[in-house]
Amino acid sequence: APQLAYRDDALHLEDVALADLARSHGTPLYVYSKAAMLGALAAYQRGFAGREVQICYAMKANSTLGVLQLFARAGCGFDIVSGGELRRVLAAGGEAAKVIFSGVGKTQAEMREALAAGIGCFNVESEAEIDVLDAVAREMGAVAPISIRVNPNVDPKTHPYISTGLKGNKFGVAHERAVAVYQHAAALPGLRVLGIDCHIGSQITEETPYLDAMDRVLDLVAAIEAQGIRLHHIDFGGGLGIDYQGDTPPAADALWTRLLARLDARGYGQRKLLIEPGRSLVGNAGVCLTEVLYNKPGESKNFCIVDAAMNDLPRPAMYQAYHAIVPLRLPAAGAATTTVDVVGPVCESGDWLGRDRVLSVRPGDHLAVLSAGAYCMSMASNYNSRGRGAEVLVDGAVAHLIRQRETSEDQMRGERLPD
Ligand code: LLP
Repeated sequence: APQLAYRDDALHLEDVALADLARSHGTPLYVYSKAAMLGALAAYQRGFAGREVQICYAMKANSTLGVLQLFARAGCGFDIVSGGELRRVLAAGGEAAKVIFSGVGKTQAEMREALAAGIGCFNVESEAEIDVLDAVAREMGAVAPISIRVNPNVDPKTHPYISTGLKGNKFGVAHERAVAVYQHAAALPGLRVLGIDCHIGSQITEETPYLDAMDRVLDLVAAIEAQGIRLHHIDFGGGLGIDYQGDTPPAADALWTRLLARLDARGYGQRKLLIEPGRSLVGNAGVCLTEVLYNKPGESKNFCIVDAAMNDLPRPAMYQAYHAIVPLRLPAAGAATTTVDVVGPVCESGDWLGRDRVLSVRPGDHLAVLSAGAYCMSMASNYNSRGRGAEVLVDGAVAHLIRQRETSEDQMRGERLPD
């Protein structure tokens, strides 16, 4: 993000020197830029200018209340996947009517909770779920607004763990089944068919999968409406990638200008649109600060052991994901460098944050793991009984602590010793 830059050799996020935050709040510390998040949102808003659109932030990317509040105030709705996420939206001041509920395994309790809260739409993912939701709604004397997630069978050309729109995935209803499933749903008294949705994967860096998916979904819209079932909105999901390591995803506004041209050409330009972006709104707005504990030279590898680990930032361990790692203070010109694996204190060989990085660091120095705003803190765990880190939201020169560092008491709350 343009908000991240060195000034006088010190890395700043907006107008805050990150080393100052590391000193005052300790590490590991997540730091986010408000301007970067709103800037990423603005790119979507530019792309959709003049259209009826509801941007539903896919909050699984970063579900911290302070982040949700920022998007709620900016007018966003939320794409949720659990009752816990719904409660976070409401606690952060988000509007239930702008919430859509995705996920293949909604429980009946979650359905009831979401119906009682008055969410905007359930994105139903299977035929079995349709019948359960219908029954739950009728029991409550309610009608559940739904869209059906269809599987466009398009290859998003991303990591297999995060591609979701192919036939072999657990997500959505098969393209060939879609019309029949819509006919079944439209006949159920506990459901009101509102729209259609799809989501083909994450960290997508090409335009073609989106255009292909749009074509496939619009084919279905035509086929479904030919059966007399009106679709009030089309939800194109999320998935737009970010630059981790020289990746070149299209800009959100450029992508949507192109997609909307296709939508117009096919005669659906007036339809209400929903999108579910996660990573592209927050990923490059955040960094994770960590302190160097030890340099450990070795025969075949040198290790730089830091105080952040796979429990804090699981993406490298889980997906072999690349995150740039940079010093908070630039080394003096000509300082000696070493090639190191940056690793954490957790007792697993998979606990690494970066491999073969050229750095010049000593114990006590601080590093920033970049592109850490999405799927990092929200995927953090307590493995090795490590408390999750603190989080700070930067706004100009002001730094708000939005999450305290987790204590051992926090971790042990709820556990009981059997006499
Ligand atoms: N909508 C649905 C139904 C989704 O399943 C997802 C993400 C999104 C929207 C948002 O996708 P995004 O715009 O963030 O790409 N933990 C993985 C990413 C998992 C994505 C899961 N679904 C990672 O760290 O790369």
